[in-house]
Amino acid sequence: MISRQPFSPPSLLVAIGTAAALVLCSSVDATVTSASVDANRSLQGQPYEYTSDHVVARASAISKDYETIAGFLAQDNGAGRENARVVYQLGAYCQSYATLMLDAPLTSEILQGTEVTGTNANGDSVSGIVHSGAFSGDATLEVMYLIPSDGIANLCSVAGNPTPQYENCLNTSGEISVSGGPTLTYSNYDLDNDTAAGQSMESMSMTISGAGTLGYPRIGTFASYYGTNKYANEFIQAAFDKADTQFDSGNAEFTKWTQFGTNTFIEIAALTMTSWMHVVIKMQDAVEVCKSLPQGQKSVQEVPLWDNAVATYRGMGGAAGGTMGQLWFVADDYCQKFGTCQDGPGGTEGVAKANSKLYAHFDAGKQDLLDGNCDSAESSLDAAATTMTIPIIQGLLYHAYELDLFQEQREIVQGEAAAFLHSLLPLVHACSAGNAVMIYNQIKVGNGKTASFEAIKSSLEGTYECLGVTCEDIGGIVDLSDPTTYQKHGAPCGTFNVGDQNGDGIPDVAPPVPVPPPSTSLPMPTPYPTQDNFTPTSTPTDPPSSVYQLIDYEETSDDGVTYLLAIGLPLLSVIAVGIVVCRQYKTKKEHGKEFDSGETGEGAPDDETEDELKVENLQGEML
Ligand SMILES: *[C@@H]1O[C@H](CO)[C@@H](O)[C@H](O)[C@H]1NC(C)=O
Ligand SMILES: *[C@@H]1O[C@H](CO)[C@@H](O)[C@H](O)[C@H]1NC(C)=O
Ligand SMILES: *[C@@H]1O[C@H](CO)[C@@H](O)[C@H](O)[C@H]1NC(C)=O
Repeated sequence: MISRQPFSPPSLLVAIGTAAALVLCSSVDATVTSASVDANRSLQGQPYEYTSDHVVARASAISKDYETIAGFLAQDNGAGRENARVVYQLGAYCQSYATLMLDAPLTSEILQGTEVTGTNANGDSVSGIVHSGAFSGDATLEVMYLIPSDGIANLCSVAGNPTPQYENCLNTSGEISVSGGPTLTYSNYDLDNDTAAGQSMESMSMTISGAGTLGYPRIGTFASYYGTNKYANEFIQAAFDKADTQFDSGNAEFTKWTQFGTNTFIEIAALTMTSWMHVVIKMQDAVEVCKSLPQGQKSVQEVPLWDNAVATYRGMGGAAGGTMGQLWFVADDYCQKFGTCQDGPGGTEGVAKANSKLYAHFDAGKQDLLDGNCDSAESSLDAAATTMTIPIIQGLLYHAYELDLFQEQREIVQGEAAAFLHSLLPLVHACSAGNAVMIYNQIKVGNGKTASFEAIKSSLEGTYECLGVTCEDIGGIVDLSDPTTYQKHGAPCGTFNVGDQNGDGIPDVAPPVPVPPPSTSLPMPTPYPTQDNFTPTSTPTDPPSSVYQLIDYEETSDDGVTYLLAIGLPLLSVIAVGIVVCRQYKTKKEHGKEFDSGETGEGAPDDETEDELKVENLQGEML
């Protein structure tokens, strides 16, 4: 039934190259650290102390790109969509830097992160840091603009920005004073052609740190399922093209949708796929660098990588920039729908418990790295990544509920559901192939209108233990007209319930309540035309539908699904155990090959325990 191409592990050579690149990259980041250590606990509105403002500046401005992309997509027209795509591909605000032609070659090296100042066309001061290190004899210097004190709206931003901001760009010619170094002169700086963004949403998921990602636990899970570790970009590009994806498994037939579904898919997936994986990879990079370095050198090298993960997760939110909150915001959004926020009636207000938990892991992991305790840092990473799946699961459940029980079936909702689906599917698959097939068939692109919330809910719940989350973490679909109760069929699994809201000393069990009409029960998304009247843009026709499909689910009729549920699932679970057990052994081998070289044998006992646990979980499922 499922035809998968074998997943080929990366060669040892590539792995070594990656390790070298990682170390190089991190030592360069470390220079940034030494340039300015101005820890500001309140900078991001959370108790996480960054080691350097510059690391934050390099990472967090991606949230402005994201906000810009989302704004263009919301225009719901071809021009907006094209603009969104340009920002997605080229970037606009993150690591905006100028390449300056120096009047005379450098006579000494200038390290990355060194602070420099120059002036704009009005003679006002412009601050930056050296973007990538320059060597003696170099005729060019890359200067990354720092976000001005009056905000990112005044940053020099050109690159893929459809509305370029030139005001605080360096003048076309002038002087650059290098902190603790010489004053250099440059000329012929062409603001349009010589200003680029060091990071875009696209590059975030394309320049993932090399082959190491295939050996990284979660990235490997996604890469082996889809057949590529660049799946996030492939999904998003296919959605922009309204074309079908060409993965080994879990394909999305975007040819079935107009711009409405694909727009919301892109909007969600840019966070739940691209940013999610970037955050996890940066944390893992930090841990791998930690393992590869001798004691004494550890903390300097890898903490900036960990900081980068936290800053990417948080974006420019909190005190620094209003609502631009990246994945943080996703968690806060869905906790309101599931009663898993810290405050308010029924836990529907304030910070998501998932965010508080996550920051505890972020803090612990950073401290572990500072202490040179790589194994503990890796545990924090595992816990953090697990916590980061909570809002993804909630998003999938919520939109499945909207589609099925609120009968809110517009393409925009289907797009949201599919984005969460594909951001989670490989993790579910690694727990139970049968459950993954079930969920996929229910809610894949094109099937959203017939999705069964209950089938999805029970299939997901069957993997919670394996995914590392609890019924309490996920919560239930809150009835916002009485936030201490849940919507019909929406209550959390297990014995967890809303607590003792009425104070009678007996835990309240949410009574089943009739589902009110959508308009009165929950705030609905901004109204769109009921008919998705898509106006073609520059391309006269949508790309042709691809016949390439490795997984043939089409034959499964609705009756077939029921049959699958009733009879096929136990069988699939048996197969799943076989597949997972095989994969675990294989993965273990790959790990051994790639990362055990630094500190031999360290990972082995943990891995074994994890494998055993997973197998036990799966056995538990069968019983
Ligand atoms: C930290 O950042 C916040 C917000 O940007 C600012 O209000 C505060 O003054 C800063 N504190 C310090 C000690 O720099
Ligand atoms: C900016 O550069 C131009 C020539 O490239 C020069 O004529 C002008 O005086 C400069 N402005 C400032 C404020 O230095
Ligand atoms: C900038 O680039 C464009 C296209 O690459 C080119 O046509 C134009 O001449 C360039 N401008 C300058 C001043 O070099």
